[in-house]
Amino acid sequence: MKTVAPKLLEVIRQEVLDTTNTTLIEIGAGKAVVSRYLSKQFQWKRVIGVEGDWMTYWTAIFMIKLVGAKVNMVRRNIYKYQMPEGAKVIYNYMSVPIIQRMYDEGRLDGALVFNLTFRIQGVEPMKVIPIDTFQKELLVYDFRKKTKSNSSQPSVI
Ligand SMILES: C[S@@+](CC[C@H](N)C(=O)[O-])C[C@H]1O[C@@H](n2cnc3c(N)ncnc32)[C@H](O)[C@@H]1O
Repeated sequence: MKTVAPKLLEVIRQEVLDTTNTTLIEIGAGKAVVSRYLSKQFQWKRVIGVEGDWMTYWTAIFMIKLVGAKVNMVRRNIYKYQMPEGAKVIYNYMSVPIIQRMYDEGRLDGALVFNLTFRIQGVEPMKVIPIDTFQKELLVYDFRKKTKSNSSQPSVI
């Protein structure tokens, strides 16, 4: 997280013109480390952490309360979670099959997406940022103009 953090800040500053109009969603949020951190770095419309595991979900809520972060946790399977309308940034550290399925089902449409380490197959990232840990790289995908109607076409970046 320590080495990923400055890279996330840099790209968000460059790419997200108005965070106050943008929802940040951490899918597979775990203890919501990244969303807790980013919630304090920018003023967002909303920050949401989606986590499937009950114990992890409650741990995240405890941590959010402890540090006074403005993160709304949702306990749900990410394949069933309805993404909010409007501008959004999605952060995740999920394995290839999971993030690939999210992409194939169009669940990342309309978002600027940060993947830690795992690539979406057949899609060129907008940026590949080396990370100085075992996680290796931060991948940035721009799906902000992608909608269900053009989801069968390759992403144009
Ligand atoms: C590798 S951890 C990443 C945690 C955190 N985002 C981070 O970057 O440190 C992946 C998390 O995704 C959750 N997860 C896995 N599959 C999920 C699913 N289908 N729906 C919701 N959460 C899921 C796991 O319980 C775990 O907490």
